[in-house]
Amino acid sequence: MALRINPSILASDFANLESELGRIKNADLAHVDVMDNHFVPNLTLGLPVVERLQQVSPIPLDVHLMIDAPERWAPQYAELGAYSVTFHAEAVGRDSDPVAVARSLRERGARAGLALKPGTDAEPFLELLPEFDMVLVMTVEPGFGGQSFMPETMPKLRTLSQAVRDSGLDVWLQVDGGINDDTIGIAAEAGATVFVAGSSVFGAENAGAQVDHLRELAAG
Ligand code: DX5
Ligand code: ZN
Repeated sequence: MALRINPSILASDFANLESELGRIKNADLAHVDVMDNHFVPNLTLGLPVVERLQQVSPIPLDVHLMIDAPERWAPQYAELGAYSVTFHAEAVGRDSDPVAVARSLRERGARAGLALKPGTDAEPFLELLPEFDMVLVMTVEPGFGGQSFMPETMPKLRTLSQAVRDSGLDVWLQVDGGINDDTIGIAAEAGATVFVAGSSVFGAENAGAQVDHLRELAAG
């Protein structure tokens, strides 16, 4: 199983996003955190900015939507060409469901990702795995970079990893939050295959070298 490192540009210099993307050319995908100040208590960027990032990024975009009403917005991120669009299970509105959102993404050529907050169990979603290309196990409460990894989320990752293996499906398992030199091995051992790292990568003097370093640590 290929391991992927996706730096989160939340930890980069927002006044210089194009050059910041240039620091992580050797990474797999650029992780873009979209926050609406409703689903999470923080506000970042939205469609017009992500559209420009898509045009200038040397690597594909991995969009993480921390927003209410993903059924309304997620398809538009797929339309603009994002490689992967992940929305939160907890955010899907009453008039929609995660499967409908996932199908709207796949129809537009994007990989569909389902994100689970630390307190959300995986069990109700295991039967939906065929509808998704990725499950994101949040390893911090979503909303801010620079928080500490929550090891108590690892049993959920193991459950998902076992379910993916049993299904034979090619579903990526992503972890996001507090991933650094000390924690990436723990998540890899529990079955993660895609690692988001914000402060650990963009806080390094040589971001590209840190991407390679994390990849080696994940491989064990
Ligand atoms: C948090 C975001 C993360 C964040 C990770 O809500 O989803 O992607 O940028 O940042 P670090 O790696 O610093 O924990
Ligand atoms: Zn994220």
